[in-house]
Amino acid sequence: MTLVELQIFKEQLLADLDTISSTDQLEAFKLAHLTRKGSIAALFERLREVSKEEKPQFGKELNLLRQTIEARFADKEALIGSSSKRSKDAIDLTMPARPIIVEEPGHEHPLMRTFNEMIAIFEKMGFAIAYGPEVEDDEHNFGKLNFPPDHPARDMQDTFFVAPNPTWKIGGDDEHVVLRTHTSPVQVRLMETQTPPIRAIVPGRVYRNEAVSARSQAAFFMIEGLVVDKGVTMADLKGVLLSFAKQLFGSDVKIRLRPSFFPFTEPSAEVDVSCYICGGKGCRVCKHSGWLEILGSGMVHPNVLRASGIDPEIYSGYAFGFGVDRTAMMRYDVSDIRDFFENDLRFLSQF
Ligand code: DAH
Repeated sequence: MTLVELQIFKEQLLADLDTISSTDQLEAFKLAHLTRKGSIAALFERLREVSKEEKPQFGKELNLLRQTIEARFADKEALIGSSSKRSKDAIDLTMPARPIIVEEPGHEHPLMRTFNEMIAIFEKMGFAIAYGPEVEDDEHNFGKLNFPPDHPARDMQDTFFVAPNPTWKIGGDDEHVVLRTHTSPVQVRLMETQTPPIRAIVPGRVYRNEAVSARSQAAFFMIEGLVVDKGVTMADLKGVLLSFAKQLFGSDVKIRLRPSFFPFTEPSAEVDVSCYICGGKGCRVCKHSGWLEILGSGMVHPNVLRASGIDPEIYSGYAFGFGVDRTAMMRYDVSDIRDFFENDLRFLSQF
């Protein structure tokens, strides 16, 4: 072994150290070169073979080699050791997220489910969806719907009146403002702004000054329907409502129309659906009558068409109106309407 070979060996070890990038490689280097059986220890063994004259020089170089390699090794160890520690502390972005375990996942409220299903059925039959203001003027809520000025529905018992505010511009009679008592005023708004054919439903909230009880709330949901065109008849109304009832309650149900009265329709009919629980034989849900009342309807009164700017000599139309809450009560056999609004999970989780 010569001093030059020693120098080359040292360069080689330093180059090897440079390429090391893992703790495994560090460990292998240590075993190969720095232990008692390693290559550097072996070089010290070979000092014996060196001549007396060369020995001091050789010994010095060899010690220097060992110190240099050990120092560089320590540097490398510190570097790799600290970086592997850092990566352990870092956030592992490849880790799958913890699953969210919900014992009771939320679901649509039974009232909204009924509401949305009813809307979807009419949408499928080609009805557009329209909305109108919940704060309404007297003219749209009553006047143009052919309610006589002294009609009991205008009475303080039923209607929430809103104190007039001079800054309001709600497009009608700003002096006499109410919370709409039904969705029918939107019929008028549709006819005022559109030319027939009109075919729309109006889902929305309505308000009545009624005592809250198992059967009634002061705020509830209605869906209005309106079709105006040339040659529209009561047969069209009946066909659409029968199709609707079959889609909501089941394909076996029948409907029947009973004569009734509404100021805004003539003739007017109340519509019953055969009890979908007992098939019409009579049960607790239908109070042993075999029928369930679901809505009011009729042919749009000529006075209403005229008040809304539509010529009753040319056009005719039908209209209908549902109470959504009552329909949901029927569907789910809920006996107290207030249950829908109390947010009691023991009630809601049943649906
Ligand atoms: N507006 C009525 C109510 O509040 C429901 C109704 C009945 C709507 C007959 C109509 C209809 O469009 O033709 O009870």
